[in-house]
Amino acid sequence: MFRKKGEGYLTAKESRRISKENRKITEEFEKKRKRKNVPESEYITQMRDPNNEVEFDDLHSYFYTDAGVVKSVDGVTFDVPIGKTVGIVGESGCGKSVTSLSLMQLLQRPQGQIVSGEIRLNRGGKVYNIANTPQEIMQDLRGNAVSMIFQEPMTSLNPVFKIGDQVDEVIALHEGKGKSKEEIRRQTIEALELVGIANSEGVANMYPHELSGGMRQRVVIAMALACHPRVIIADEPTTALDVTIQAQILDLLRDLKSKINASIMLITHDLGVIAEMADYVVVMYAGRIVEKGTAEDIFYHPAHPYTLGLMASKPVVGREVSELYSIPGKVPNPVNMPNYCYFRDRCEMKMSCCDGDYPCEIRLSDTHVVSCYRYYEEHKEEAERTANANLLQTARMAAAGEEVKGDA
Ligand SMILES: Nc1ncnc2c1ncn2[C@@H]1O[C@H](COP(=O)(O)OP(=O)(O)OP(=O)(O)O)[C@@H](O)[C@H]1O
Ligand code: SF4
Ligand SMILES: [Mg+2]
Repeated sequence: MFRKKGEGYLTAKESRRISKENRKITEEFEKKRKRKNVPESEYITQMRDPNNEVEFDDLHSYFYTDAGVVKSVDGVTFDVPIGKTVGIVGESGCGKSVTSLSLMQLLQRPQGQIVSGEIRLNRGGKVYNIANTPQEIMQDLRGNAVSMIFQEPMTSLNPVFKIGDQVDEVIALHEGKGKSKEEIRRQTIEALELVGIANSEGVANMYPHELSGGMRQRVVIAMALACHPRVIIADEPTTALDVTIQAQILDLLRDLKSKINASIMLITHDLGVIAEMADYVVVMYAGRIVEKGTAEDIFYHPAHPYTLGLMASKPVVGREVSELYSIPGKVPNPVNMPNYCYFRDRCEMKMSCCDGDYPCEIRLSDTHVVSCYRYYEEHKEEAERTANANLLQTARMAAAGEEVKGDA
């Protein structure tokens, strides 16, 4: 039995109907994805800005579950510039991993699907729209153009194979054509050395359980870097490690970034990690971006009440508080998201106009964008130029009845 919007539970009959509908929809997606000999015109595209390595453009990634459609990523737009680190932050379940898994086409299928929007990935001047790229092409892009460091090193490594063999396999699979076993092993040793493993030949002959957590995470990073990807996704790369090892791994990522000039998408709950590492920050809430900007924009001029809440719930050295702030309430049910601001029911700054439709994006500066009615009056002209006319009509009508400015 499943919960249904505003009432008790889904009946078994209703659940069967949903699952039948889902099957129909996901089969269509799967058919499209598995096509062979797809003409390039369907998936080769142009970057909006040639300075970007990746552009997410109105990405929608959904899961078709028996309880209904989970809109895990619901209209996400942001850029990953060449050689920069973009931090993605937000609480558990807000869609950070689903965003990055969409870029790798690694959503759990068939229920997980990129439904609409584009993800443009620049590979040496050739730009792929990942949302339309067929499976066979994707295999070549994964690892070579973009690769991922997962959260838990013990689950990313196979316990029954030696470290060296596992790294060899990655290299052989992606760029091993015409290379001898010895050449591949040499590349493995280089990759292990690059991530600061001193006794790399010895470690190559060990099994994962013989290494410490920090060493295992280094190996996982070596595997991700082995084929020199231009984009590295690091999904909570330090969460499973203790604090001193965390600091070492962050130093390593920073050092590697300057050595190989790759772009990093750094996903984390930890604002401290973002502050140390990121050039740009994207704040997600319930499948959408509520605020994005440079690290300076977000840390010195946070605008969205959710970002302000995240900042306030972080301990600060030297500031004495009796208890840490916690954002009240909880995230709305992902199967039935409301049509007003998703943060409204938890927002301590809400106004009467917040009952209107989901707020449009408002540009606070060239780099800083926020989705919140609080900034509507101040930036009305810009918002009117760029946003959806219906949304603005609601905002205008609602705002007319209330002073928006200055009651923060
Ligand atoms: N395989 C799946 N089937 C159904 N729903 C899923 C699946 N994977 C993720 N989701 C849903 O998608 C939403 C976003 O999940 P996601 O894993 O991206 O969160 P996250 O921001 O990475 O959270 P965390 O910080 O806990 O890793 C959640 O509501 C989650 O329940
Ligand atoms: S739109 Fe309103 S409810 Fe939503 S975050 Fe802004 S102030 Fe809060
Ligand atoms: Mg995650």
